[in-house]
Amino acid sequence: MNSIDVFCPGSVANISCGFDILGLCLDSVGDTMRVKKVSKKGITIKSISGYNLSLKTNENAAGVSALALINQYKNIDYGFEIEIIKKIKPGSGIGSSAASASGSVFAINELLGKPFSKNELVKFALEGEYICSKSYHADNISPLIFGGITLVRDHKELDIINLPIPSELYVTIIHPQIELKTSDSRSIVDRNIHISKMTEQSANLGAFISSLYKEDYELLKRSIKDVVIEPCRSKLIPEFKSLKKIALKNNALGFGISGSGPSMFSLCKGIKSANSVIKNMEYQLDKIDINYKCYISKINKEGLKILWCFTA
Ligand code: HSE
Repeated sequence: MNSIDVFCPGSVANISCGFDILGLCLDSVGDTMRVKKVSKKGITIKSISGYNLSLKTNENAAGVSALALINQYKNIDYGFEIEIIKKIKPGSGIGSSAASASGSVFAINELLGKPFSKNELVKFALEGEYICSKSYHADNISPLIFGGITLVRDHKELDIINLPIPSELYVTIIHPQIELKTSDSRSIVDRNIHISKMTEQSANLGAFISSLYKEDYELLKRSIKDVVIEPCRSKLIPEFKSLKKIALKNNALGFGISGSGPSMFSLCKGIKSANSVIKNMEYQLDKIDINYKCYISKINKEGLKILWCFTA
């Protein structure tokens, strides 16, 4: 295989009750990346369309994670050239850097004949994620590499668990067109939380995971809560409170900040419910004239996908 095109999906990290450890993979929004074997050694970022990002390998999430991978693969006498069509806006909260960081390592691993495990790919992709967010969190990367919904029990030991996906679960995303850098959004999170909040958050996290195994939508609804991060971050997001009210009134199972924001997500039972949640939120946003994009997605069980490959 000499050249490969991959779909690099967006993701929702945290899912309210699992800061830095829960994530789900989206299906309806993502970048496309082409990676080719070339005679020039190392990693070259040939082009990025869609958004203005650095083409310097060591400043780009896709480049940094690819470098981490080839540094572990000895005796390689050729290199890789990367072209990215970015559809996920950087600073959107739906895993733009994770899409780039994991797309390149997934594609190169395929071109090399899959010498690396999924856990190793997460480890390389984390280096790319770090360049953008200044922190090692694997909650966006893991669902792209493992597919579906994942729990990162430990990102150093790379103990990553695939969770079950309730069959009727849909995700809605509202993305107000403002940029919120993950590093800024992380800097305002309260580092000292009261033990009662820790108890509440862990009870919800446990219940949420149990609801996935039991396919219990009522339990899921009771447990998608964030009493720790959302109170700090929601202040930065226009219309957060009013949209949350609308989503819950229209039978969303839960509503919260997607990753570090400004995108907001809701989980819904069935497509009808997802459509009604989006329609009512759009109505509110159109009234107050805020630019936004919206998506409805099933949970993407596969994660990163090969779209096309070429063997000379
Ligand atoms: N868990 C990370 C955060 C995700 O909330 O900062 C960033 O997309």
